[in-house]
Amino acid sequence: MLVGTPARVLHGWAALTGAAALPPSWALGYQHARWGFGSEREVRRVAEGYLERGLPLSALHLDIDHYRGHRVFTVDRERFPDLPGMAADLRERGVRLVSIVDPAVKAEPGLAVYDEGVAEDAFVKDARGRLVRGEVWPGEAVFPDFTDPGVRRWWGGLYQERLAQGFAGFWHDMNEPVSFAAFGDPTLPRSSRHALEGRSGDHREAHNVYGLTMARAGYEGLRALRPDERPFLFSRSGWAGMQRYGGTWSGDVATGWPGLRASLALVLGLGLCGVPYSGPDIGGFTGFPSPELFLRWFQLGAYLPLFRTHAAMTAGRREPWEFGAEVLEHAGAAMRERTRLLPYFVTLAHLAQRTGAPYVRPVWWRSPEDRALRDCEDEFLLGDALLVAPVLEAGADRRAVRLPRGRWYDTATGQAHEGPGQVLLDAPPSRIPVLARAGSVVPVAGEDGRVELDVWAPAAGRTGGGVLITDAGAGWGRPEVVRFTTRARGGVVTVEQGGAGGGVPGADARLSRGRGGGGPLPCGAVRLVSGGSCRVLPPYGVS
Ligand code: GLC
Repeated sequence: MLVGTPARVLHGWAALTGAAALPPSWALGYQHARWGFGSEREVRRVAEGYLERGLPLSALHLDIDHYRGHRVFTVDRERFPDLPGMAADLRERGVRLVSIVDPAVKAEPGLAVYDEGVAEDAFVKDARGRLVRGEVWPGEAVFPDFTDPGVRRWWGGLYQERLAQGFAGFWHDMNEPVSFAAFGDPTLPRSSRHALEGRSGDHREAHNVYGLTMARAGYEGLRALRPDERPFLFSRSGWAGMQRYGGTWSGDVATGWPGLRASLALVLGLGLCGVPYSGPDIGGFTGFPSPELFLRWFQLGAYLPLFRTHAAMTAGRREPWEFGAEVLEHAGAAMRERTRLLPYFVTLAHLAQRTGAPYVRPVWWRSPEDRALRDCEDEFLLGDALLVAPVLEAGADRRAVRLPRGRWYDTATGQAHEGPGQVLLDAPPSRIPVLARAGSVVPVAGEDGRVELDVWAPAAGRTGGGVLITDAGAGWGRPEVVRFTTRARGGVVTVEQGGAGGGVPGADARLSRGRGGGGPLPCGAVRLVSGGSCRVLPPYGVS
């Protein structure tokens, strides 16, 4: 039995079900998807739309419409004549391509994946040994039995084709598994047979682990095919332990304010279930969000691990410039803030892997006994340092924010608020309230891309701290861990840097006192190994 604080329980849960995979750092940037990018030309046009506006785009996702007739591991060469060429061009400009991968294989003799799968005896059969056929996007289809280690090995090898097309990451879909049905369960018949790691059984037992074992097949395949890079994979379906292979997302969340609210509940809930990396289809999968709804969804998404816009073919566009100049400006600000926070997100990814603590935590994380905090479902902690209060309703330009105990600074104004309690904060269209815990250290990307520290002054006589974990971005190199302790004494904030592994030289540093007025302290006093600097916020002694 696991008992104790949420941190302790999640730590124990991760010990039982496995440590979360570490996404490559590009997967912590902004990503854009759409079902229905009809051609290479359109994909290039969308990428250009972001780049020419100076919007930091990390990845574009290609949905099933780039397949030839929806056949997995194929490309429609008429509409996508040179995917590797396009992938290389985009890559040069900092944009990766992510490919959807569906498990269902078109039941079509002559199709390489089908023929190979039949030869490998890879597809799910019924009790009489006949292939179980279903109906998915490509038409009549068969389903790999991922509960068989040999099938996983075969399937994992197929990602070679995707890598050769230039894809950097993978989006597993329809892996409940779905088989369309007019009546009854839209999945495989319960009597379908599965290997179940050699034990053998039927679909009732295999159903819930189907997505998990598909994720394992993809992840292990990628490890073998591209051993120098951390795989990026997220999956619609999964089970306890899926975090070892990657993350998940909302699936087809409906466009509307309830969908926006549900997206936060989903990410919070998944984090508490041991799956730290997830996010919604920003703007909702269906329909046409109003500019306001899109913007508020986007502003929430900017603080969630998977920060991705996506929508159905029949839904409206989701590029931020499609919603008018005002939305574009504010969505751009959210994207830039996400980019600035990237070192913090990378740190949180490492912490999730090492400790089981999700990036996105309920506000009662540290004080589960606080009833008022436990009832609070519309805000969250991002790591230990930040409290994010998204706007989840129409027409709001301020909102009530519940504070855990301690001092919290409004990051937009520098104003200090004392918790526990509730405050009313401005939430104009340009931003949602984000507060920083007094004493915390938030690693951010400076203008030149080097890491800087935002040090939020501890209350007088108090201490605080933080951690910075850096890595090479995509590989397996040993990360560097630096811990910080902050102190406020006699009107001076000090930050002590102590290395804990990774060969970081310990160094004490003192930051001089601010002189009041606006703006951060000019403090070059703390130098990180990487050469970045550190500033105290808000100007100490002002608030
Ligand atoms: C499913 C997925 C969605 C995807 C669509 C087409 O509905 O959840 O994200 O766009 O299939 O592949």
